[in-house]
Amino acid sequence: MTTKLSFVDLQIRSFRNINELSLTELGRINVISGNNGHGKTSALEAIYFVSTSRSFRAEKLRDLVAEGSEHCHVRAHISEGGYVREQQAALGPRSRKLQIDGAKTTKIAEFATKTPVVVFHPGDLLLASGPASLRRTLLDRVALFIEPPSAAHRRAYQKAVRERQRVLEERGVRASELFAYEELMAKHGSALSRARARAAERLSEALSRAFCRMAAPNLKLRVEYEPGGTEDPELFLKTLAERRVSDQQRRGAGFGPQKDELALSIDGRSARRHASQGQQRILALAIKTAELHCVREARGTHPVLLLDDVSSELDPTRIGAVYDFLRDTPGQVFVTTTRPNLFQTPGIDSSLRRDFRLDCGALVDAD
Ligand SMILES: Nc1ncnc2c1ncn2[C@@H]1O[C@H](COP(=O)(O)OP(=O)(O)OP(=O)(O)O)[C@@H](O)[C@H]1O
Ligand SMILES: [Mg+2]
Repeated sequence: MTTKLSFVDLQIRSFRNINELSLTELGRINVISGNNGHGKTSALEAIYFVSTSRSFRAEKLRDLVAEGSEHCHVRAHISEGGYVREQQAALGPRSRKLQIDGAKTTKIAEFATKTPVVVFHPGDLLLASGPASLRRTLLDRVALFIEPPSAAHRRAYQKAVRERQRVLEERGVRASELFAYEELMAKHGSALSRARARAAERLSEALSRAFCRMAAPNLKLRVEYEPGGTEDPELFLKTLAERRVSDQQRRGAGFGPQKDELALSIDGRSARRHASQGQQRILALAIKTAELHCVREARGTHPVLLLDDVSSELDPTRIGAVYDFLRDTPGQVFVTTTRPNLFQTPGIDSSLRRDFRLDCGALVDAD
């Protein structure tokens, strides 16, 4: 059974260019409009932050805090299956604070799976053609829902990789503490590879279906997880020991899930190198559709969909796909646009749509 999930209201404070913003009586389709640079993406980012404790665009979370402020804070009421809960996420100079119904939590995976969101923003158009790290993030987003401990494995693995590399470079390949870090890398890295392999399997089915529907049906899409490490902890450990010298020389670990790739090919040719612009776009949209599907299946609820910058270029492929999204998902949607009048929502009862207009990060009359 799929339950209903939706944001009821949202308060944002000292977040990027938003000083204080309160969005109440949210609807099923929420259109956030405003001119360039007035805070639309920031508002979506705040929704993402209070749902996941992360950002979909900031390299450093500190960038979320408004210049001149020490803290940023987002609070939301979320209704699910007839109950309303409160979620809060705040960021200070040295700490991140997460709360559910007033109780602090340090269990990030538990917090981040509570209110599932799927975001589609302009950077996602590079999903098929851009760096492999984008596709690893995608795998991790899906793995989080099908195997929540994978998030802790990833963090522990990344920490161990950094520590081992520091020791290799400062103390050399015979340093006694290397083995302990390599054991940690083998334990958490093999678990992460397992989780990503499972995520890739789920994504692959949904993605092939979505791509087939959106592109020409005779085009064959292949989705394959190419592990940079191994699921076998013993083999992992052995390989690390063999690679100490080369990892020291190249100043980075050459074996492990940080080298994973989710390889996509269309009719036998690598999508990354050979797909046309249009195919890359359709592939990006199909990937997002597949993510939505996998998260819904794993979590048993329709994720909230965040669509950034849907019509600024009025690209017919994107706009058409956005309408497809709106028709396909009965879940709540937030979209941002510079031109709300051109963003029509045919077939959707107008009482379900709410319009918000931002000017310098503050709400102004939508008309
Ligand atoms: N930490 C910060 N403190 C203050 N202002 C910030 C911070 N980070 C970003 N900004 C500013 O916030 C403004 C809003 O950015 P945002 O990306 O939300 O705009 P937008 O409405 O989505 O614009 P566009 O239509 O161009 O995508 C920008 O002018 C940006 O320079
Ligand atoms: Mg924007």
